[in-house]
Amino acid sequence: MMTENIEKFIDELTKSLSDETFVKMTLGNYRGTDAHLQKLLIRLLETKKGTRLFFLYRQETRDTAKNFDFAEGLKIIKESLGTNFFSGHLFTLKNDFQLDIGKKGKSHLNVGKPTFKSKPDLSHNRAKKALVDQNSFYLKALGITTEAGEIRDKQQDKWRQINKFVETLGSLIDKSVLANYQKLKIVDMGSGKGYLTFAAFDFFKITRGIDVSMTGIDAREELVDLCRDIAKACDFENLEFERGLISNYELSDVNILIALHACNTATDDAIFRGIRAEADLIVVAPCCHQELRPQIKAPEFLGGILRHGVILEREAETLTDGLRALLLERSGYSTKIFEFISTEHTPKNNMIVGTRTAKKADSEKVDAQITLIKEFYGIKEQRLENLLA
Ligand SMILES: C[S@@+](CC[C@H](N)C(=O)[O-])C[C@H]1O[C@@H](n2cnc3c(N)ncnc32)[C@H](O)[C@@H]1O
Repeated sequence: MMTENIEKFIDELTKSLSDETFVKMTLGNYRGTDAHLQKLLIRLLETKKGTRLFFLYRQETRDTAKNFDFAEGLKIIKESLGTNFFSGHLFTLKNDFQLDIGKKGKSHLNVGKPTFKSKPDLSHNRAKKALVDQNSFYLKALGITTEAGEIRDKQQDKWRQINKFVETLGSLIDKSVLANYQKLKIVDMGSGKGYLTFAAFDFFKITRGIDVSMTGIDAREELVDLCRDIAKACDFENLEFERGLISNYELSDVNILIALHACNTATDDAIFRGIRAEADLIVVAPCCHQELRPQIKAPEFLGGILRHGVILEREAETLTDGLRALLLERSGYSTKIFEFISTEHTPKNNMIVGTRTAKKADSEKVDAQITLIKEFYGIKEQRLENLLA
Protein backbone atom coordinates (compact mmCIF):
# COMPACT_ATOMS: atom_id res chain seq x y z
CA MET A 1 0.00 0.00 0.00
CA MET A 2 1.18 3.52 -0.75
CA THR A 3 1.19 5.05 2.69
CA GLU A 4 2.56 8.53 2.02
CA ASN A 5 -0.82 10.30 2.27
CA ILE A 6 -1.82 8.29 5.32
CA GLU A 7 1.42 9.31 7.02
CA LYS A 8 0.84 12.96 6.07
CA PHE A 9 -2.68 12.74 7.48
CA ILE A 10 -1.39 11.24 10.76
CA ASP A 11 1.34 13.91 10.91
CA GLU A 12 -1.28 16.67 10.59
CA LEU A 13 -3.37 15.00 13.30
CA THR A 14 -0.35 14.70 15.63
CA LYS A 15 0.62 18.33 14.97
CA SER A 16 -2.92 19.55 15.61
CA LEU A 17 -2.99 17.75 18.95
CA SER A 18 0.32 19.19 20.05
CA ASP A 19 -0.33 22.77 18.90
CA GLU A 20 -3.94 22.57 20.20
CA THR A 21 -5.59 23.27 16.84
CA PHE A 22 -7.41 19.90 16.70
CA VAL A 23 -11.20 20.30 16.53
CA LYS A 24 -12.55 16.83 15.69
CA MET A 25 -12.22 13.99 13.21
CA THR A 26 -14.22 11.16 11.65
CA LEU A 27 -13.07 7.82 10.31
CA GLY A 28 -15.45 6.32 7.77
CA ASN A 29 -15.79 3.85 4.90
CA TYR A 30 -15.50 0.97 7.35
CA ARG A 31 -14.60 -2.41 5.86
CA GLY A 32 -13.67 -4.35 8.99
CA THR A 33 -15.23 -7.42 10.55
CA ASP A 34 -17.85 -5.71 12.74
CA ALA A 35 -21.04 -6.00 10.67
CA HIS A 36 -22.70 -3.12 12.53
CA LEU A 37 -19.97 -0.52 12.80
CA GLN A 38 -20.39 2.45 10.49
CA LYS A 39 -18.00 5.18 11.57
CA LEU A 40 -15.84 6.47 14.34
CA LEU A 41 -16.30 10.02 15.60
CA ILE A 42 -13.40 11.48 17.56
CA ARG A 43 -13.25 14.65 19.61
CA LEU A 44 -11.52 16.00 22.69
CA LEU A 45 -12.85 15.53 26.18
CA GLU A 46 -11.74 17.22 29.38
CA THR A 47 -11.54 14.63 32.17
CA LYS A 48 -9.92 14.41 35.59
CA LYS A 49 -7.01 12.63 33.87
CA GLY A 50 -6.55 15.64 31.56
CA THR A 51 -7.59 16.17 27.93
CA ARG A 52 -8.29 12.87 26.20
CA LEU A 53 -9.45 11.63 22.82
CA PHE A 54 -13.08 10.58 22.99
CA PHE A 55 -14.04 7.85 20.49
CA LEU A 56 -17.71 7.38 19.66
CA TYR A 57 -18.22 4.17 17.66
CA ARG A 58 -21.37 4.72 15.59
CA GLN A 59 -23.13 1.45 14.92
CA GLU A 60 -26.35 0.71 13.09
CA THR A 61 -28.56 0.56 16.15
CA ARG A 62 -26.38 1.79 19.01
CA ASP A 63 -23.31 3.84 19.83
CA THR A 64 -20.48 2.91 22.16
CA ALA A 65 -17.86 5.23 23.56
CA LYS A 66 -14.33 5.08 24.96
CA ASN A 67 -11.68 7.65 25.73
CA PHE A 68 -7.92 7.35 25.38
CA ASP A 69 -4.84 9.44 26.04
CA PHE A 70 -3.32 10.99 22.91
CA ALA A 71 -0.65 8.29 22.40
CA GLU A 72 -3.13 5.41 22.70
CA GLY A 73 -5.69 7.19 20.51
CA LEU A 74 -3.11 7.98 17.81
CA LYS A 75 -1.95 4.36 17.80
CA ILE A 76 -5.51 3.12 17.24
CA ILE A 77 -6.12 5.65 14.47
CA LYS A 78 -2.83 4.72 12.74
CA GLU A 79 -3.63 1.01 12.90
CA SER A 80 -7.20 1.51 11.67
CA LEU A 81 -6.51 3.64 8.61
CA GLY A 82 -6.13 1.45 5.55
CA THR A 83 -7.07 -1.74 7.45
CA ASN A 84 -10.57 -1.08 8.80
CA PHE A 85 -11.42 2.51 7.92
CA PHE A 86 -10.71 3.78 4.42
CA SER A 87 -11.52 7.44 4.83
CA GLY A 88 -10.63 10.09 7.39
CA HIS A 89 -11.86 13.65 7.85
CA LEU A 90 -9.76 15.81 10.13
CA PHE A 91 -10.89 19.29 11.20
CA THR A 92 -8.28 21.63 12.65
CA LEU A 93 -8.29 25.37 13.17
CA LYS A 94 -5.71 25.64 10.34
CA ASN A 95 -7.18 23.34 7.68
CA ASP A 96 -9.65 20.56 6.95
CA PHE A 97 -8.06 17.32 5.67
CA GLN A 98 -9.96 14.65 3.75
CA LEU A 99 -8.15 11.33 3.27
CA ASP A 100 -9.53 8.66 0.92
CA ILE A 101 -7.86 5.28 0.52
CA GLY A 102 -8.75 3.30 -2.62
CA LYS A 103 -9.16 -0.44 -2.97
CA LYS A 104 -5.64 -0.94 -4.31
CA GLY A 105 -4.12 1.10 -1.50
CA LYS A 106 -3.86 4.26 -3.57
CA SER A 107 -4.75 7.23 -1.41
CA HIS A 108 -5.72 10.83 -1.92
CA LEU A 109 -5.37 13.66 0.56
CA ASN A 110 -7.37 16.82 0.03
CA VAL A 111 -6.48 19.92 2.06
CA GLY A 112 -9.11 22.64 2.36
CA LYS A 113 -9.90 25.81 4.28
CA PRO A 114 -10.84 25.26 7.92
CA THR A 115 -14.57 24.82 8.67
CA PHE A 116 -14.06 25.77 12.32
CA LYS A 117 -12.64 29.08 13.51
CA SER A 118 -12.78 28.30 17.20
CA LYS A 119 -12.62 25.20 19.35
CA PRO A 120 -15.77 23.79 20.95
CA ASP A 121 -16.12 24.06 24.74
CA LEU A 122 -14.79 20.80 26.20
CA SER A 123 -15.63 21.27 29.79
CA HIS A 124 -18.59 19.85 31.61
CA ASN A 125 -17.55 21.38 34.94
CA ARG A 126 -18.29 24.95 33.97
CA ALA A 127 -20.36 27.49 35.84
CA LYS A 128 -23.84 27.40 34.42
CA LYS A 129 -26.40 30.07 33.83
CA ALA A 130 -29.12 27.92 32.29
CA LEU A 131 -30.50 24.87 34.06
CA VAL A 132 -29.11 22.50 31.49
CA ASP A 133 -26.00 23.59 29.63
CA GLN A 134 -26.40 23.21 25.90
CA ASN A 135 -22.68 22.42 25.63
CA SER A 136 -22.90 19.43 27.95
CA PHE A 137 -21.08 16.54 26.40
CA TYR A 138 -23.83 14.00 27.09
CA LEU A 139 -26.26 16.05 24.99
CA LYS A 140 -23.89 15.69 22.04
CA ALA A 141 -23.31 12.01 22.64
CA LEU A 142 -27.08 11.42 22.83
CA GLY A 143 -27.66 13.32 19.61
CA ILE A 144 -29.61 16.24 21.14
CA THR A 145 -26.99 18.80 20.11
CA THR A 146 -24.60 19.06 17.20
CA GLU A 147 -20.84 19.04 17.63
CA ALA A 148 -21.01 22.85 17.74
CA GLY A 149 -23.50 22.71 20.61
CA GLU A 150 -26.61 23.66 18.62
CA ILE A 151 -29.89 21.91 19.43
CA ARG A 152 -30.76 19.71 16.48
CA ASP A 153 -34.02 20.74 14.78
CA LYS A 154 -35.68 17.39 15.44
CA GLN A 155 -34.65 17.46 19.10
CA GLN A 156 -36.23 20.80 20.06
CA ASP A 157 -39.16 19.15 21.86
CA LYS A 158 -36.88 16.78 23.72
CA TRP A 159 -34.69 19.73 24.72
CA ARG A 160 -37.70 21.61 26.14
CA GLN A 161 -38.78 18.47 27.95
CA ILE A 162 -35.32 17.97 29.49
CA ASN A 163 -35.21 21.55 30.79
CA LYS A 164 -38.76 21.49 32.05
CA PHE A 165 -38.18 18.20 33.82
CA VAL A 166 -35.06 19.45 35.60
CA GLU A 167 -36.84 22.66 36.58
CA THR A 168 -39.87 20.72 37.85
CA LEU A 169 -37.76 18.26 39.83
CA GLY A 170 -35.71 21.09 41.36
CA SER A 171 -38.84 22.90 42.46
CA LEU A 172 -40.42 19.71 43.88
CA ILE A 173 -37.30 19.10 45.94
CA ASP A 174 -37.22 22.71 47.14
CA LYS A 175 -40.75 22.33 48.49
CA SER A 176 -40.05 19.02 50.17
CA VAL A 177 -38.17 17.69 53.20
CA LEU A 178 -35.23 17.16 50.82
CA ALA A 179 -34.72 20.91 50.32
CA ASN A 180 -31.65 21.14 52.53
CA TYR A 181 -30.21 17.68 51.95
CA GLN A 182 -26.57 17.74 50.88
CA LYS A 183 -26.70 14.10 49.83
CA LEU A 184 -29.35 12.57 47.59
CA LYS A 185 -29.96 9.11 46.26
CA ILE A 186 -32.08 8.98 43.13
CA VAL A 187 -33.26 5.99 41.12
CA ASP A 188 -34.68 6.43 37.62
CA MET A 189 -36.71 3.40 36.54
CA GLY A 190 -37.05 2.92 32.78
CA SER A 191 -34.23 5.38 32.11
CA GLY A 192 -34.09 4.54 28.39
CA LYS A 193 -31.48 6.56 26.53
CA GLY A 194 -30.89 8.52 29.71
CA TYR A 195 -31.59 12.09 28.52
CA LEU A 196 -33.45 12.97 31.68
CA THR A 197 -31.18 10.92 33.94
CA PHE A 198 -28.03 12.68 32.73
CA ALA A 199 -29.65 16.12 32.90
CA ALA A 200 -30.96 15.55 36.44
CA PHE A 201 -27.62 14.19 37.66
CA ASP A 202 -25.71 17.06 36.05
CA PHE A 203 -28.10 19.61 37.53
CA PHE A 204 -27.92 18.32 41.11
CA LYS A 205 -24.26 17.41 41.09
CA ILE A 206 -22.70 20.27 39.14
CA THR A 207 -25.17 23.15 39.28
CA ARG A 208 -26.38 22.62 42.83
CA GLY A 209 -23.23 20.96 44.16
CA ILE A 210 -25.15 18.20 45.94
CA ASP A 211 -23.50 14.86 46.64
CA VAL A 212 -25.87 12.90 44.44
CA SER A 213 -25.74 9.25 43.50
CA MET A 214 -28.12 8.16 40.79
CA THR A 215 -28.96 4.84 39.16
CA GLY A 216 -30.85 4.38 35.90
CA ILE A 217 -32.59 1.02 35.46
CA ASP A 218 -33.69 -0.24 32.08
CA ALA A 219 -34.60 -3.56 30.52
CA ARG A 220 -32.67 -2.82 27.33
CA GLU A 221 -29.04 -3.82 27.50
CA GLU A 222 -27.87 -1.70 24.57
CA LEU A 223 -29.27 1.47 26.18
CA VAL A 224 -27.71 0.60 29.53
CA ASP A 225 -24.32 0.04 27.83
CA LEU A 226 -24.55 3.32 25.92
CA CYS A 227 -25.46 5.29 29.04
CA ARG A 228 -22.64 3.65 31.00
CA ASP A 229 -20.14 4.59 28.29
CA ILE A 230 -21.30 8.20 28.22
CA ALA A 231 -21.33 8.49 32.03
CA LYS A 232 -17.78 7.16 32.07
CA ALA A 233 -16.69 9.56 29.35
CA CYS A 234 -18.21 12.44 31.35
CA ASP A 235 -16.46 11.29 34.54
CA PHE A 236 -19.86 11.16 36.24
CA GLU A 237 -18.67 8.84 38.98
CA ASN A 238 -21.87 8.30 40.94
CA LEU A 239 -24.12 7.93 37.94
CA GLU A 240 -24.70 4.27 37.23
CA PHE A 241 -26.89 2.30 34.88
CA GLU A 242 -28.12 -1.21 35.46
CA ARG A 243 -29.97 -3.62 33.27
CA GLY A 244 -33.05 -5.03 34.94
CA LEU A 245 -36.81 -5.18 35.20
CA ILE A 246 -38.51 -2.62 37.39
CA SER A 247 -40.67 -5.33 38.94
CA ASN A 248 -37.56 -7.23 40.13
CA TYR A 249 -35.43 -4.32 41.21
CA GLU A 250 -34.66 -4.33 44.92
CA LEU A 251 -34.90 -0.72 45.95
CA SER A 252 -33.89 0.54 49.36
CA ASP A 253 -32.53 3.67 50.95
CA VAL A 254 -33.70 6.04 48.20
CA ASN A 255 -34.74 9.68 48.41
CA ILE A 256 -36.29 10.12 44.98
CA LEU A 257 -37.88 7.53 42.73
CA ILE A 258 -38.38 8.64 39.13
CA ALA A 259 -40.17 6.74 36.36
CA LEU A 260 -40.76 8.76 33.23
CA HIS A 261 -42.72 7.22 30.42
CA ALA A 262 -42.28 3.71 31.81
CA CYS A 263 -44.82 1.94 29.67
CA ASN A 264 -48.19 0.75 30.92
CA THR A 265 -48.06 -1.03 34.29
CA ALA A 266 -44.26 -0.59 34.59
CA THR A 267 -45.28 2.75 36.15
CA ASP A 268 -47.26 0.84 38.82
CA ASP A 269 -44.27 -1.41 39.48
CA ALA A 270 -42.09 1.67 39.93
CA ILE A 271 -44.56 3.43 42.26
CA PHE A 272 -44.87 0.26 44.30
CA ARG A 273 -41.07 -0.06 44.62
CA GLY A 274 -40.90 3.61 45.68
CA ILE A 275 -43.62 3.22 48.31
CA ARG A 276 -42.05 0.07 49.70
CA ALA A 277 -38.62 1.73 49.90
CA GLU A 278 -40.26 4.75 51.59
CA ALA A 279 -38.89 7.17 49.00
CA ASP A 280 -39.39 10.79 50.07
CA LEU A 281 -40.46 11.80 46.59
CA ILE A 282 -42.05 9.68 43.86
CA VAL A 283 -42.20 11.34 40.45
CA VAL A 284 -43.78 9.51 37.53
CA ALA A 285 -44.97 10.53 34.07
CA PRO A 286 -47.06 7.54 32.96
CA CYS A 287 -47.63 6.48 29.37
CA CYS A 288 -49.28 3.71 27.30
CA HIS A 289 -52.13 3.10 29.75
CA GLN A 290 -53.42 -0.26 28.57
CA GLU A 291 -54.65 -2.01 31.69
CA LEU A 292 -58.05 -0.48 32.40
CA ARG A 293 -59.44 0.25 28.96
CA PRO A 294 -60.45 -3.34 28.11
CA GLN A 295 -61.98 -3.73 31.59
CA ILE A 296 -64.22 -0.68 31.48
CA LYS A 297 -67.91 -1.50 31.26
CA ALA A 298 -69.45 1.89 31.79
CA PRO A 299 -73.02 2.29 32.99
CA GLU A 300 -75.56 2.52 30.17
CA PHE A 301 -76.09 6.26 30.45
CA LEU A 302 -72.39 6.85 29.56
CA GLY A 303 -72.52 4.47 26.58
CA GLY A 304 -73.23 7.27 24.11
CA ILE A 305 -70.02 9.00 25.11
CA LEU A 306 -67.66 6.13 25.80
CA ARG A 307 -68.49 4.36 22.51
CA HIS A 308 -65.94 6.74 20.96
CA GLY A 309 -62.61 4.98 21.19
CA VAL A 310 -60.64 8.16 21.77
CA ILE A 311 -62.87 9.22 24.68
CA LEU A 312 -62.76 5.75 26.23
CA GLU A 313 -58.98 5.84 25.98
CA ARG A 314 -58.76 9.20 27.75
CA GLU A 315 -61.21 8.06 30.38
CA ALA A 316 -59.08 4.96 31.01
CA GLU A 317 -55.97 7.13 31.32
CA THR A 318 -57.67 9.50 33.72
CA LEU A 319 -58.99 6.66 35.84
CA THR A 320 -55.63 4.85 35.92
CA ASP A 321 -53.71 7.94 37.03
CA GLY A 322 -56.45 9.01 39.44
CA LEU A 323 -56.43 5.58 41.09
CA ARG A 324 -52.64 5.66 41.28
CA ALA A 325 -52.81 8.98 43.11
CA LEU A 326 -55.42 7.64 45.55
CA LEU A 327 -53.30 4.57 46.22
CA LEU A 328 -50.28 6.78 46.89
CA GLU A 329 -52.37 8.81 49.34
CA ARG A 330 -53.48 5.67 51.10
CA SER A 331 -49.79 4.77 51.43
CA GLY A 332 -48.92 8.01 53.22
CA TYR A 333 -48.10 10.34 50.34
CA SER A 334 -49.63 13.69 49.48
CA THR A 335 -50.17 13.83 45.74
CA LYS A 336 -50.58 16.15 42.82
CA ILE A 337 -51.13 15.54 39.14
CA PHE A 338 -50.27 18.21 36.60
CA GLU A 339 -49.12 18.68 33.01
CA PHE A 340 -45.39 19.11 33.27
CA ILE A 341 -44.98 20.25 29.69
CA SER A 342 -47.52 21.53 27.19
CA THR A 343 -49.26 18.91 25.01
CA GLU A 344 -47.90 20.79 22.02
CA HIS A 345 -44.47 19.24 22.76
CA THR A 346 -45.44 15.74 23.89
CA PRO A 347 -48.74 13.96 24.45
CA LYS A 348 -47.20 12.03 27.37
CA ASN A 349 -47.23 14.92 29.75
CA ASN A 350 -49.12 14.12 32.95
CA MET A 351 -46.93 13.96 35.97
CA ILE A 352 -47.97 12.29 39.22
CA VAL A 353 -45.98 13.40 42.24
CA GLY A 354 -46.16 11.74 45.62
CA THR A 355 -44.49 13.39 48.62
CA ARG A 356 -44.13 11.26 51.72
CA THR A 357 -45.86 12.80 54.70
CA ALA A 358 -45.87 12.07 58.39
CA LYS A 359 -49.67 12.32 58.32
CA LYS A 360 -51.49 9.02 58.01
CA ALA A 361 -54.25 8.96 55.39
CA ASP A 362 -57.76 7.85 56.29
CA SER A 363 -57.33 4.54 54.49
CA GLU A 364 -60.93 3.46 54.98
CA LYS A 365 -62.18 6.59 53.28
CA VAL A 366 -59.72 6.18 50.39
CA ASP A 367 -60.55 2.49 50.02
CA ALA A 368 -64.25 3.33 49.86
CA GLN A 369 -63.60 5.85 47.08
CA ILE A 370 -61.54 3.35 45.13
CA THR A 371 -64.20 0.66 45.48
CA LEU A 372 -66.92 3.05 44.28
CA ILE A 373 -64.94 4.09 41.23
CA LYS A 374 -64.09 0.51 40.31
CA GLU A 375 -67.70 -0.62 40.68
CA PHE A 376 -68.98 2.31 38.66
CA TYR A 377 -66.72 1.47 35.71
CA GLY A 378 -66.78 -2.29 36.12
CA ILE A 379 -63.03 -2.37 36.80
CA LYS A 380 -61.86 -5.69 38.24
CA GLU A 381 -58.23 -4.99 38.96
CA GLN A 382 -55.51 -2.42 38.89
CA ARG A 383 -51.85 -3.36 39.09
CA LEU A 384 -50.73 -0.96 41.82
CA GLU A 385 -53.67 -1.90 44.00
CA ASN A 386 -52.84 -5.60 43.56
CA LEU A 387 -49.19 -5.00 44.41
CA LEU A 388 -50.07 -3.07 47.55
CA ALA A 389 -52.65 -5.58 48.68
C1 LIG B 1 -40.45 5.51 26.53
S1 LIG B 1 -38.90 5.06 27.22
C2 LIG B 1 -38.63 6.39 28.34
C3 LIG B 1 -37.20 6.67 28.62
C4 LIG B 1 -36.93 7.85 29.57
N1 LIG B 1 -37.41 7.61 30.91
C5 LIG B 1 -37.54 9.12 29.02
O1 LIG B 1 -38.60 9.55 29.51
O2 LIG B 1 -36.96 9.70 28.09
C6 LIG B 1 -39.35 3.73 28.27
C7 LIG B 1 -38.16 2.92 28.75
O3 LIG B 1 -38.60 2.09 29.81
C8 LIG B 1 -38.04 0.81 29.65
N2 LIG B 1 -38.95 -0.13 30.31
C9 LIG B 1 -40.27 -0.32 30.06
N3 LIG B 1 -40.77 -1.24 30.88
C10 LIG B 1 -39.76 -1.65 31.69
C11 LIG B 1 -39.65 -2.57 32.77
N4 LIG B 1 -40.71 -3.24 33.18
N5 LIG B 1 -38.46 -2.72 33.37
C12 LIG B 1 -37.37 -2.02 32.96
N6 LIG B 1 -37.41 -1.12 31.95
C13 LIG B 1 -38.59 -0.93 31.33
C14 LIG B 1 -37.92 0.61 28.16
O4 LIG B 1 -36.89 -0.32 27.84
C15 LIG B 1 -37.61 2.01 27.68
O5 LIG B 1 -36.23 2.23 27.53
